Amino acid sequence: MLADLVKVKAWFDGYVRSFDLSVPMIRMKYEHSYDVMRVGEALTKTLAWPPNDAAVGIAACLLHDTGRFSQYRDFGTYNDGASVDHGDCGYETLRREFFGNTINADSVDDEGQKVILQAVKWHNKKSLPELHPDLSSDALLFCWLARDADKLDVFRLVRRRMDEGTIGGLLPRHKIGAPLSTSLLEEVETFWSGSYKNASSLQDFLLIQLTWTLDINFAPSLQILEKSGVLTHIRDCFPKDDARVQTLLEGLFVRIEEHKRAIAEK
Ligand SMILES: [Fe+2]
Repeated sequence: MLADLVKVKAWFDGYVRSFDLSVPMIRMKYEHSYDVMRVGEALTKTLAWPPNDAAVGIAACLLHDTGRFSQYRDFGTYNDGASVDHGDCGYETLRREFFGNTINADSVDDEGQKVILQAVKWHNKKSLPELHPDLSSDALLFCWLARDADKLDVFRLVRRRMDEGTIGGLLPRHKIGAPLSTSLLEEVETFWSGSYKNASSLQDFLLIQLTWTLDINFAPSLQILEKSGVLTHIRDCFPKDDARVQTLLEGLFVRIEEHKRAIAEK
């Protein structure tokens, strides 16, 4: 499995330049792509991936949000539910415009292309299926890497924008001062995961983020999250005097500890 990262970056930069980078929401996704790539670099190093696999994994991280650019141009939103599934859209764009063009033939070998396409397609799904014709066992590690790196960077970005007081620009659909939505609370109490369709406030988004922790795949990813303090920061954002919310948070943090033990061997 091989990927020439210099060529992958050159294609990606050229592709993104066909969009209007002066639009802050587009610019943000371009920067996020490189930030996720850097998280992927750090994780593959910590996990001691062989260099060729690491290069393919890092390429998948850089390309994971390829679908975001045409999504925003065509629909003016990053809400998949109201537009397109940006993982599926990225898969198609890469297949057609990157790997389908003979000029790029030596950028990534066939095996690398297959796993990158799957990592991009599956990076944004709520969970990965046990068995699916479009998800091979070879691709699973790469899907895990892209999903972890993406989540880690979104945790970092949301925290930074909250600290800067600019979170409203990042999450335009979510009301900043509003409480948790009852429908989301019920969903998380039942399934320990939350859907964007039930989220309308910043607190809702933060609760969904906390549940992402249960979907983290690699132990070092969870260590990075815990070390950053972002999990306790989110926990402190919820009302201390709301017994229902506090019970839910206690349950979530117990599950996070269990999950940490479960992935320690991965
Ligand atoms: Fe994404």
